[in-house]
Order: sequence, then structure tokens, then C-alpha cells
Amino acid sequence: MLAQASPWYVHALQRTTAAPAGPLAVPERMEWTTRPGSGPNAEILGPDLRPKRVLELGCGPGHNAAHLATRYGAQVTAVDLVGLQIRRARSHYGRLNNLTFVVGHALHYLQASDERFDAVYSVFGAVGLVAPELLLPAIARHLTRGRTLAFSVPHPQRGGLHPTTDDRPRRDYVTLLDRTRLPIARWDFDAERWEKHLGHAGLWLSSAKEFHDARHGLWPTTLLITARKL
Ligand SMILES: C[S@@+](CC[C@H](N)C(=O)[O-])C[C@H]1O[C@@H](n2cnc3c(N)ncnc32)[C@H](O)[C@@H]1O
Repeated sequence: MLAQASPWYVHALQRTTAAPAGPLAVPERMEWTTRPGSGPNAEILGPDLRPKRVLELGCGPGHNAAHLATRYGAQVTAVDLVGLQIRRARSHYGRLNNLTFVVGHALHYLQASDERFDAVYSVFGAVGLVAPELLLPAIARHLTRGRTLAFSVPHPQRGGLHPTTDDRPRRDYVTLLDRTRLPIARWDFDAERWEKHLGHAGLWLSSAKEFHDARHGLWPTTLLITARKL
């Protein structure tokens, strides 16, 4: 039965078992990279988020969304494909009035809504896991002009890999806590290829930064991209 379940469902099941439900203190900072405490904070989403509407795609247990809602007072909507993750996120942070957790596929959520957002972000979430030629234009349609899309993805050269040389996804793996690896498709682009896809969607790449994590050797582990709606 589990062998046929979605890798993201099995991932959620293991994480939920390892980290029980219940209220949590809101994290002091946003984490964009594999190394907690490194990388930028929420300022890359734009100045003065206080009255702003923000959307997260692939929120998992909701730590970053809770940070934004609490420390910046933003109105945050956080979407995840897996109901178990959303249930866990609600148990941690459901008390926050300006934070809404939604179960859904990122693309379907965007296609079925006409809300506008001042910032959209994904931290190892839906961006890179959904065809960019569909997801990026869908995101752009919901962003106000001049506003930000920021996303971190596993670096395309992690562990000595080469970035993909075409626009197709390649096989990657979700690594579970018990070290089992379940196959998924990932669009594993370098910054140049992301820039091309962002441009086609009406988004301008404003920065691309890579981050290292000594626990994972010499290769960069995270690629963090910010773009603006033209
Ligand atoms: C590696 S986890 C990252 C979770 C969270 N952003 C974090 O940093 O802890 C990836 C998350 O993306 C979710 N996800 C995968 N595909 C998705 C999709 N198409 N739409 C929405 N969420 C998705 C998974 O269920 C999982 O919770």
C-alpha cells in the first residue's frame, strides 16, 4: 500500500510520526537553505510586509509561514499537497489569525483562485516540483506588478551533479528519515535556465545566490532565486 502512495505523503507520514503534533513557538527567522541560521531572512520578499498578502507553495509544517505572519503581520496563505502536513501545520500554528493553511496542489490552487499577492515564495516546495512552464505563469498572474517571487531549490550541482541541459525534469529522490529514497521528478535548472523560464512568464530574475552547507561537502546545496513581476 505505502509503496504506491505519493512520495510526499510517505515523507509527511514519517515526519509526522517523528515530530508530534501540538502548538510550537514561532521561529525567530525564515530558513531558505539547508543550513538553519544561514542565508537571508524575510526581507528578500520586499519592504514592509505588514499589510501584505503572501502565498507559500509547499509549506510543509508551516514554520516559515508562521514566522511571516507573526513577525511581519503579513496575511499569509500556505498551501501543501498533503493533508497530513496541513494538519500538522495547523496543530503547530493554527492559533494565528492571519495565517491560513490550505490542502492542495500548488498549480490547482493558483488556477482556481483570483486572489492577488504581494509576494509568493517556496522553500524546497512546489517550485521545481511542478512544470515551470505551467507554474511560473500561474504565479505571475497572481502577483501585483513589481512584487516578488522568491524560491529556494536544491542546488543543481549538489553532490557533484551537473545541471540539466534541457527543459525537462529529471529523476530525483525524496530521502526519508529512515534513509529510504523515493523517486520524484524535479526540474533541476541552473540560474540561467530559471531566468529564461521566469522571463517567459513575465518575471524578471533579480538575484540568484548559492549556499553551502559543510555537512554536505564542498558542493553548494541550495539555489535561492528572487524575481519581480514585470
Ligand atoms: C521538502 S518539503 C519542504 C517543506 C517546507 N517548505 C520546509 O521548508 O520545511 C516539500 C513540500 O512540498 C510539498 N509539495 C510537493 N509537491 C507539491 C505541489 N505540487 N503543490 C503543493 N505542495 C507540494 C510536499 O508535500 C512537502 O510538504
